[in-house]
Amino acid sequence: MKKTFQWRDSFETGHPVIDEQHRALLECLQGITGCLGGDKDSEAIEQCRKFRALLQRHFAEEEDILDQAKFPRMDEHRETHRETLERFERIYSGCGEACAKAGKTPCMEDFAYLLFDHFLRGDLDFKSYLQTRKRADDPS
Ligand SMILES: [Fe+2]
Ligand SMILES: [Fe+2]
Repeated sequence: MKKTFQWRDSFETGHPVIDEQHRALLECLQGITGCLGGDKDSEAIEQCRKFRALLQRHFAEEEDILDQAKFPRMDEHRETHRETLERFERIYSGCGEACAKAGKTPCMEDFAYLLFDHFLRGDLDFKSYLQTRKRADDPS
Protein backbone atom coordinates (compact mmCIF):
# COMPACT_ATOMS: atom_id res chain seq x y z
CA MET A 1 0.00 0.00 0.00
CA LYS A 2 1.26 3.43 -0.86
CA LYS A 3 2.58 5.48 2.01
CA THR A 4 0.60 8.47 0.79
CA PHE A 5 -2.66 6.72 1.75
CA GLN A 6 -1.79 6.53 5.44
CA TRP A 7 -3.33 8.55 8.24
CA ARG A 8 -1.30 11.61 9.27
CA ASP A 9 -1.36 13.65 12.46
CA SER A 10 -2.17 16.74 10.43
CA PHE A 11 -5.59 15.19 9.62
CA GLU A 12 -6.74 15.33 13.26
CA THR A 13 -9.44 17.91 13.92
CA GLY A 14 -9.67 17.12 17.64
CA HIS A 15 -13.39 16.26 17.37
CA PRO A 16 -13.77 12.56 18.26
CA VAL A 17 -16.75 11.78 16.01
CA ILE A 18 -15.39 13.65 13.01
CA ASP A 19 -11.93 12.11 13.40
CA GLU A 20 -13.40 8.63 13.71
CA GLN A 21 -15.40 9.12 10.51
CA HIS A 22 -12.36 10.53 8.72
CA ARG A 23 -10.37 7.45 9.71
CA ALA A 24 -13.18 5.19 8.47
CA LEU A 25 -13.17 7.04 5.13
CA LEU A 26 -9.43 6.55 4.77
CA GLU A 27 -9.78 2.87 5.68
CA CYS A 28 -12.47 2.51 3.06
CA LEU A 29 -10.18 4.11 0.48
CA GLN A 30 -7.43 1.70 1.48
CA GLY A 31 -9.96 -1.09 0.97
CA ILE A 32 -10.33 -0.04 -2.67
CA THR A 33 -6.57 -0.41 -3.20
CA GLY A 34 -6.77 -3.74 -1.40
CA CYS A 35 -9.19 -5.06 -4.01
CA LEU A 36 -7.05 -4.18 -6.99
CA GLY A 37 -4.70 -6.29 -8.98
CA GLY A 38 -6.48 -9.58 -8.59
CA ASP A 39 -9.68 -11.22 -9.65
CA LYS A 40 -11.58 -9.15 -7.11
CA ASP A 41 -12.00 -6.02 -9.19
CA SER A 42 -15.78 -6.05 -8.95
CA GLU A 43 -15.17 -5.67 -5.23
CA ALA A 44 -13.22 -2.50 -6.00
CA ILE A 45 -16.35 -1.05 -7.60
CA GLU A 46 -18.44 -2.15 -4.66
CA GLN A 47 -15.89 -0.49 -2.39
CA CYS A 48 -16.09 2.75 -4.42
CA ARG A 49 -19.85 2.79 -3.84
CA LYS A 50 -19.31 2.17 -0.16
CA PHE A 51 -16.85 5.06 -0.12
CA ARG A 52 -19.47 7.33 -1.70
CA ALA A 53 -22.11 6.30 0.85
CA LEU A 54 -19.70 6.89 3.74
CA LEU A 55 -18.74 10.27 2.33
CA GLN A 56 -22.40 11.35 2.02
CA ARG A 57 -23.16 10.22 5.55
CA HIS A 58 -20.05 11.87 6.92
CA PHE A 59 -20.89 15.21 5.32
CA ALA A 60 -24.43 15.14 6.70
CA GLU A 61 -23.26 14.30 10.22
CA GLU A 62 -20.40 16.77 10.14
CA GLU A 63 -22.86 19.49 9.09
CA ASP A 64 -25.08 18.60 12.06
CA ILE A 65 -22.12 18.85 14.43
CA LEU A 66 -21.07 22.20 12.98
CA ASP A 67 -24.65 23.51 13.06
CA GLN A 68 -24.89 22.62 16.74
CA ALA A 69 -21.57 24.32 17.41
CA LYS A 70 -22.88 27.39 15.55
CA PHE A 71 -19.96 27.35 13.15
CA PRO A 72 -20.13 30.75 11.42
CA ARG A 73 -19.07 29.65 7.92
CA MET A 74 -21.70 26.93 7.44
CA ASP A 75 -22.80 27.98 3.96
CA GLU A 76 -19.27 27.94 2.60
CA HIS A 77 -18.58 24.65 4.32
CA ARG A 78 -21.71 23.01 2.93
CA GLU A 79 -20.63 24.22 -0.48
CA THR A 80 -17.24 22.46 -0.15
CA HIS A 81 -19.12 19.23 0.65
CA ARG A 82 -21.39 19.63 -2.34
CA GLU A 83 -18.41 20.28 -4.61
CA THR A 84 -16.56 17.27 -3.21
CA LEU A 85 -19.52 14.99 -3.96
CA GLU A 86 -19.72 16.41 -7.47
CA ARG A 87 -16.03 15.74 -7.96
CA PHE A 88 -16.55 12.22 -6.69
CA GLU A 89 -19.28 11.65 -9.28
CA ARG A 90 -17.09 13.02 -12.07
CA ILE A 91 -14.21 10.71 -11.13
CA TYR A 92 -16.53 7.75 -10.61
CA SER A 93 -18.35 8.11 -13.91
CA GLY A 94 -15.10 9.02 -15.73
CA CYS A 95 -13.56 5.78 -14.51
CA GLY A 96 -16.26 3.81 -16.33
CA GLU A 97 -15.54 0.89 -14.01
CA ALA A 98 -12.13 0.61 -15.68
CA CYS A 99 -10.85 -1.66 -12.94
CA ALA A 100 -13.42 -4.30 -13.84
CA LYS A 101 -12.32 -4.26 -17.45
CA ALA A 102 -8.61 -3.59 -17.47
CA GLY A 103 -7.49 -4.07 -13.89
CA LYS A 104 -6.38 -0.43 -13.77
CA THR A 105 -7.83 2.25 -11.58
CA PRO A 106 -6.79 5.74 -12.52
CA CYS A 107 -9.42 6.92 -10.04
CA MET A 108 -7.50 5.90 -6.91
CA GLU A 109 -5.12 8.87 -6.89
CA ASP A 110 -8.06 11.17 -7.58
CA PHE A 111 -10.10 9.77 -4.68
CA ALA A 112 -7.11 10.08 -2.35
CA TYR A 113 -6.59 13.69 -3.40
CA LEU A 114 -10.30 14.42 -2.94
CA LEU A 115 -10.26 12.99 0.58
CA PHE A 116 -7.04 14.69 1.69
CA ASP A 117 -8.30 17.94 0.26
CA HIS A 118 -11.41 17.56 2.45
CA PHE A 119 -9.29 16.84 5.55
CA LEU A 120 -6.61 19.46 5.04
CA ARG A 121 -8.31 22.29 3.22
CA GLY A 122 -12.03 21.91 3.92
CA ASP A 123 -12.10 20.78 7.51
CA LEU A 124 -9.14 22.69 8.86
CA ASP A 125 -11.40 25.70 8.55
CA PHE A 126 -13.40 24.55 11.61
CA LYS A 127 -10.58 22.93 13.59
CA SER A 128 -9.49 26.00 15.53
CA TYR A 129 -13.12 27.12 15.92
CA LEU A 130 -14.20 23.85 17.57
CA GLN A 131 -11.10 23.74 19.76
CA THR A 132 -11.60 27.32 20.95
CA ARG A 133 -15.25 26.55 21.74
CA LYS A 134 -14.29 23.41 23.62
CA ARG A 135 -11.90 25.38 25.80
CA ALA A 136 -14.58 28.02 26.43
CA ASP A 137 -17.14 25.36 27.42
CA ASP A 138 -14.70 23.48 29.62
CA PRO A 139 -12.16 25.90 31.08
CA SER A 140 -10.29 23.34 33.16
FE1 LIG B 1 -16.17 19.14 6.01
FE1 LIG C 1 -14.96 15.92 7.32
